[in-house]
Amino acid sequence: MSEQLVANNLYAVLKEHLTLEAISDLLEKPKTQAHGDVAFPTFTLAKALRKAPQAIAQELAAQLKTDDFEKIEVAGSYLNFFLNKAQVSREVLLEIIEAGETYGAANLGDGRNIVIDMSSPNIAKPFSMGHLRSTVIGNALANITEKLGYKAVKINHLGDWGTQFGMLITAYKKWGDKAKIDESPITELLALYVRINKLAKTDEAVKDEARSWFKRLEDGDSEALDLWSWFKSESLKEFARIYDLLGISFDSYNGEAFYNDKMAEVVSLLDTKGLLESSQGATVVNLDKYNLTPALIKKSDGATLYITRDLAAAIYRKRTYDFAKALYAVGNEQSAHFSQLKAVLKELGYDWAENLVHVPFGLITKDGKKLSTREGNVVLLEAVLNEADERALALITEKNPDLPNKEATAHAVGTGAVIFHDLKNDRLNNFDFNLDEVVQFEGETGPYVQYTRARSISILNKAAFTPDKNANYTLNDAESWEVIKLLQAFPVELKRAYANYEPSIIAKHAIHLAQAFNKYYAHVRILEDNAEKQSRLALVYAVQSVLKEDLALLGVESPEQM
Ligand code: ARG
Repeated sequence: MSEQLVANNLYAVLKEHLTLEAISDLLEKPKTQAHGDVAFPTFTLAKALRKAPQAIAQELAAQLKTDDFEKIEVAGSYLNFFLNKAQVSREVLLEIIEAGETYGAANLGDGRNIVIDMSSPNIAKPFSMGHLRSTVIGNALANITEKLGYKAVKINHLGDWGTQFGMLITAYKKWGDKAKIDESPITELLALYVRINKLAKTDEAVKDEARSWFKRLEDGDSEALDLWSWFKSESLKEFARIYDLLGISFDSYNGEAFYNDKMAEVVSLLDTKGLLESSQGATVVNLDKYNLTPALIKKSDGATLYITRDLAAAIYRKRTYDFAKALYAVGNEQSAHFSQLKAVLKELGYDWAENLVHVPFGLITKDGKKLSTREGNVVLLEAVLNEADERALALITEKNPDLPNKEATAHAVGTGAVIFHDLKNDRLNNFDFNLDEVVQFEGETGPYVQYTRARSISILNKAAFTPDKNANYTLNDAESWEVIKLLQAFPVELKRAYANYEPSIIAKHAIHLAQAFNKYYAHVRILEDNAEKQSRLALVYAVQSVLKEDLALLGVESPEQM
């Protein structure tokens, strides 16, 4: 909004030399308020105008009309624009009050579908922190895209197919104990899986047996299918508890197994296009021209692979949802896989392959060590969430012992803290997970943001404030300006978060807004009776409203009281 105003003013005097777009692209945000709100560098014009940038800046300053701004200053080769605080604050506060929870919404998507492949844990294995990342990043992206006018389709591409199920069935046939599995399914199944993998290292016969069990599974053998469905339903029960805690739901649970009967078509399409080659008995698509290793479509025994199922899934999703984009929130260790997937689809002649986007993310470590299911270095997510909720409960009980509904609030705070922590870092960063840093009311945490919002609500309640859409709320002091600018930035940040598939942009916005507001709160007596009181309260109202939106986009609740 403010950039637009500056760009329009510059365009009026620079029409002959630069387009409006070029001007917008040149605008910068000064590092400190001493240099104003928006800056325009004149270096680019120097060549066209054959003048020194400093001289250009001087001339432009003289030509520009200043009534839209508090002032325009020349600083070397830069023009610094100081926005009219009273005017901007009036516009922003009213816009937020009027729009409520639709503030920042836009219709970029025109109702088109964006399918989001997210969470996608492997059955018969514990739900890992890595899958937590995929779950919360995917969910935040769904919320962000929906706010921008797309329809998000959240797909849980369960890892419920593959040779590992041959291993698991082999293990169960050897050592399985039904009662034990019924009692704690994932722990038992994982133990069987670890044990059989160890044995398979030295015993070729085990591998053969596993291969043949998977083959039977793919061919629809009923004993294999029954065991597999049992493993799957037990696993889904555990996953459901976790999704419930996280407050996240899916539009589809079509996992890898769903594509079992849809892969033959893919293989025949590849064959018709002459893309299949055989390599040491296996069937592959050569991807030399993409500088990628060949995509392995079928093993020598005819068994299909992870990528075969992903090819079928992509084609199925295009047909079913006619997506504008298909996002895959999957760890960066699978980058090569997604490059291969796109390349094979391109080879098949699908131009929509361009719209597949792998949204990768970094690793979570624990005490500096990589988490690995196979090596037993696992962090069980459900236990982490429960522990986070307990810690939140302890903190709340200490701060506010009489709070009604303490358990529900503690869950919103504890689990919200884990989600927020996961989303606040650039998604590609690796980070070490330590609950001590996560459930904290101080620092750059979810509870800090939630607490800031709860506090602003209590100020509003104390003043019995209700926003008035016809009021003329204006503020022009330096303290409120920092807050106003962040409120104004929300719609821009939202679009940026979408363009970069980066929920951390929203989390950082929430932190910055909360920090700016707390600074304001420390400096200004909001409740003091004077001419500005209603405008100050309108600012508080706008802050809580936008903080709530930020948190909602991230999938974090905002308790009214804490
Ligand atoms: N189940 C896989 C894993 O845990 C993730 C699946 C990601 N989605 C996909 N379409 N390949 O590594």
